[in-house]
Amino acid sequence: MTGSLVILTGAGISAESGLGTFRDTDGLWAKFDWQALATPEAFAAEPFKVHEFYNARRANLATARPHAAHAALARLERDWLARGGDFLLVTQNVDDLHEQAGSQRLVHMHGELKKMRCEACHTVATASDEIGTDTPCPRCRQPGFLRPHVVWFGEIPLEMDLIFQALESCTHFVAIGTSGTVYPAAGFSEIARRAGAHLTEINLAETDTSPVFDSHITGPASAAVPAWVEAFLAQG
Ligand code: APR
Repeated sequence: MTGSLVILTGAGISAESGLGTFRDTDGLWAKFDWQALATPEAFAAEPFKVHEFYNARRANLATARPHAAHAALARLERDWLARGGDFLLVTQNVDDLHEQAGSQRLVHMHGELKKMRCEACHTVATASDEIGTDTPCPRCRQPGFLRPHVVWFGEIPLEMDLIFQALESCTHFVAIGTSGTVYPAAGFSEIARRAGAHLTEINLAETDTSPVFDSHITGPASAAVPAWVEAFLAQG
């Protein structure tokens, strides 16, 4: 069996690496106001406060390490491609845990916390530890134009053409650790269903998009994902 596999991950796959989710009871948006910190308007109004928030989140990433679910997805990519299948891992997460685990066919639709972008010359570079309102761009050297390379609410996610192309031809779609509440990612399952794909959801709980899925695996990603990968690859 081969075909085209699209995997979508959300904050739930990073939770067991010690990174918070967004909408669980102890989630990031329960502690911080996303409208004051994760919109272009917030950055225009209070750039220092927004930089401070992302500098702290970036510092928190320094000690985060992937777990068995990230490793299982990297193995799935290798084995599936070796069988002649097609594979794309789409993450909503801005951490680098999938990279650390070895995933390569990977797109970050909401950007990457360890990168920064210059609004003057559009260079994307590895973020310095502390980006300030006067930090010069490493390329054009202009100060005050750097922002976190993350997609804020109201902005267009990255790599959408590639993602839609993969969804419209996929035979298997798997959503892992995402609440299915934020579009366009929340609409990916519907696109895959229309493409005739088999849909699997791996989560701790039911989500808004659960009714669209064919299969549901309930459990923590660190255990449920390796078990699902093993069984999926054993189908031959
Ligand atoms: N294993 C599996 N699933 C888990 C685990 C776990 N250990 N822990 C939490 N989850 C599930 C929760 O049940 C929930 O469905 O992960 C999901 C986390 O949902 P959210 O916090 O809404 O995160 P996500 O779906 O990734 O949010 C999407 O919203 O704020 C924006 O840009 C942000 O990318 C983010 C987007």
